[in-house]
Amino acid sequence: MGEHGDFGRRGAKSALDVGCGEGRFCRMLNAKGIATTGVDPTAALVAHACAADVNGGVYLEAAAESLPFENGSFDLVVSYLALIDIPDYASGIAEMVRVLKPGGALLIANLNGFNTAGAETGWVRGALGKLLYYPVDHYLDERAFWTEWRGIRIVNHHRPLQAYMQALLREGMKLTHFEEPAPIAGAPPEKAERYRRAPWFLVMEWVKPG
Ligand SMILES: C[S@@+](CC[C@H](N)C(=O)[O-])C[C@H]1O[C@@H](n2cnc3c(N)ncnc32)[C@H](O)[C@@H]1O
Repeated sequence: MGEHGDFGRRGAKSALDVGCGEGRFCRMLNAKGIATTGVDPTAALVAHACAADVNGGVYLEAAAESLPFENGSFDLVVSYLALIDIPDYASGIAEMVRVLKPGGALLIANLNGFNTAGAETGWVRGALGKLLYYPVDHYLDERAFWTEWRGIRIVNHHRPLQAYMQALLREGMKLTHFEEPAPIAGAPPEKAERYRRAPWFLVMEWVKPG
């Protein structure tokens, strides 16, 4: 989560990763001594996460919109590249806040709305493949579109940033960190150029008052 994303700094002992996929983030958190549960509605990914976790981490098949946990169960809730996948993001966010303890943190990494607003067209290239521009269009219009993740065709959702921000504010959450990370040193030059010219990713930390 970048240099600033020190998710252990609040002393989190328990975490929930919503939309954990193959569980890579759960394994990272568990390695930091944070007992992490992963949930994902895709059975094959949950099975993969269980098999890949040699420390016996807990993984369940569940969707963000209906989390099978008591109120205030976790010190930390993580949503890593999952909000773009979640059809009813407002219910998903309300559920993430519900299962978070008062004083706990919700860590969100998501595709930037400028990125998803242009995803259907992608970069427009000129002669010799030179990157010309990235077309952001119909930014305010929420919509679903087909894309590919690890070779699998999936539906993602474009929403303007305000959709997520307003849903989190409605839940009473307080924003404590916001970042659009720059490409890391050593990234392949064309990838670094693309991510610098059209933001790809954003990272936010929200805290539940209490
Ligand atoms: C781009 S993947 C990211 C997976 C993982 N967080 C990672 O970074 O490796 C998005 C994940 O969201 C999951 N997903 C789709 N719909 C969801 C929902 N309603 N609630 C929770 N997760 C969902 C998908 O099954 C997929 O595993």
